[in-house]
Amino acid sequence: ISADGTKHFQLAMQTGTTEFFPGKKTDTWGLNGSYLGPTIMVSKGDNVAFDVVNKLGETSTIHWHGMKLPAVMDGGPHQMIEAGATWSPHWTINQPAATVWYHPHLHGKTAQHVYRGLAGMFIINDQDSKKLPSDYGVDDIPLIVQDKLFTSKGQLSEKDDTTFGTLGDEILVNGTYDPFLKVTKNQVRFRLLNASNARTYYFGFTDGRSYKLVANDAGLLQKPATLDRIKLSPGERAEIVVEFKPGEETILHSYSSGSGIEKGEFDLLKIVASSKLTESAAIPEQLSSVPPIEIPKDAKVRQFKMTMESMINDKKMDMNRIDEVVPAGTKEIWEIDNFGWSHNFHIHNAAFRILDINGKKPPEYESGRKDTVFIPNGSTVRLAVEFGDYPDPNHPFMYHCHILKHEDDGMMGQFLLV
Ligand code: C2O
Ligand code: CU
Ligand code: CU
Repeated sequence: ISADGTKHFQLAMQTGTTEFFPGKKTDTWGLNGSYLGPTIMVSKGDNVAFDVVNKLGETSTIHWHGMKLPAVMDGGPHQMIEAGATWSPHWTINQPAATVWYHPHLHGKTAQHVYRGLAGMFIINDQDSKKLPSDYGVDDIPLIVQDKLFTSKGQLSEKDDTTFGTLGDEILVNGTYDPFLKVTKNQVRFRLLNASNARTYYFGFTDGRSYKLVANDAGLLQKPATLDRIKLSPGERAEIVVEFKPGEETILHSYSSGSGIEKGEFDLLKIVASSKLTESAAIPEQLSSVPPIEIPKDAKVRQFKMTMESMINDKKMDMNRIDEVVPAGTKEIWEIDNFGWSHNFHIHNAAFRILDINGKKPPEYESGRKDTVFIPNGSTVRLAVEFGDYPDPNHPFMYHCHILKHEDDGMMGQFLLV
């Protein structure tokens, strides 16, 4: 923290080795370490400043996924950090509490850079979120979920032979294989982040217990929702609060929910509750003090067509083409039609509410503020989008499929906020 109150952070992108399995070292990438990066924690209103040092020996970027901020600070494909260079973005945290994250966004290389281990969580707090379990590592637990392929020698494999890129058959949670957690409180908040290249997860517990969903990608819900399954596609987040009784054991599991990237069952995390648990405060009935995103009657509607060829509106990403121009600080309806494969859709510097999926209300697990949405094959999803208020006629923001192979293949467009 400097004299003017700015919070300074240092992130070094570096190469290293990690022992995911005892005695088997493999090459990985990380930030300030050999795999993944530190959790950044800030509060609404904070001024933050980063020095992102690139020690990878090749160009990359760091994008703040879910953050509202000026385009030059966004860390998208235009904010390249050359080998050996340092990038120093700074901005004011100006959005409600949310679980945001960071990862590289170099065009054509995002899948590889994220897969090798460059990602981390970025937690924004405010008065609302502080009423929920907030003791980091005790009853506020980040869970970064990723599927990986390993060779028989325990080496990370980048074999990429599916329509969706690399689909792993092993799971790492926070970079740990076969993880275990002991809880000491009767209520624990888990921040789920799907940081996988392509796979979707359908989160539940093996003993069938339900839990409370308290937040989607971009912030707290109005009221907690009691659920026993949540689907998250790549880039999506959810915060849940789970209740435990002394001595209980359960497993956080991902159930199969379809074909392709939705197929497969995985144990994610074994959880054991202590024989004595500290009581935590009850979950408030009203969670967010921010009203849901409402769309004015005359809102502009924009249409986007996603296709099997990894195109949006029949175009591949062009770094030198602006696809849309949006008035800063406005709200619009974005309608996305998916004509082939499973895709999802993420918008930078924006938050949205799903109006409907094929004309129907979205499932309760995706009823809150979001910035990334799964678009099932053959579906139309309409979003009420609230854009950040950072006009810049020269630097675009991105929207894209967050299946990283598709994104690298050009399933991405650029918009200016003016
Ligand atoms: Cu998670 Cu455009 O990124
Ligand atoms: Cu993003
Ligand atoms: Cu896609």
